[in-house]
Amino acid sequence: MLGIDACPIEGFDMKAMDEELGLRARGLTSSVIVALGYRAAEDFNAKLPKSRPPLEQVLTRL
Ligand SMILES: Cc1cc2nc3c(=O)[nH]c(=O)nc-3n(C[C@H](O)[C@H](O)[C@H](O)COP(=O)(O)O)c2cc1C
Repeated sequence: MLGIDACPIEGFDMKAMDEELGLRARGLTSSVIVALGYRAAEDFNAKLPKSRPPLEQVLTRL
């Protein structure tokens, strides 16, 4: 609705991130980074067809 794109990123050094942000000392650990922003006008990927499994297949409500 706001025109903001989000990309999850799991491929990063979680231990280094935890140390950098002092997360362990607060009883926390990182698991995913989410990049947020406005896409570039020339972003060819934005217009490609997307393949997304249904929400109920990837999320479990507790
Ligand atoms: C759970 C999850 C983790 C992801 N981790 C990475 C990652 O570590 N590195 C990466 O380049 N893309 C990663 N991606 C893919 C990007 O978030 C994104 O899907 C990709 O840039 C393509 O954009 P699109 O899905 O809008 O086509 C991940 C996607 C998901 C769903």
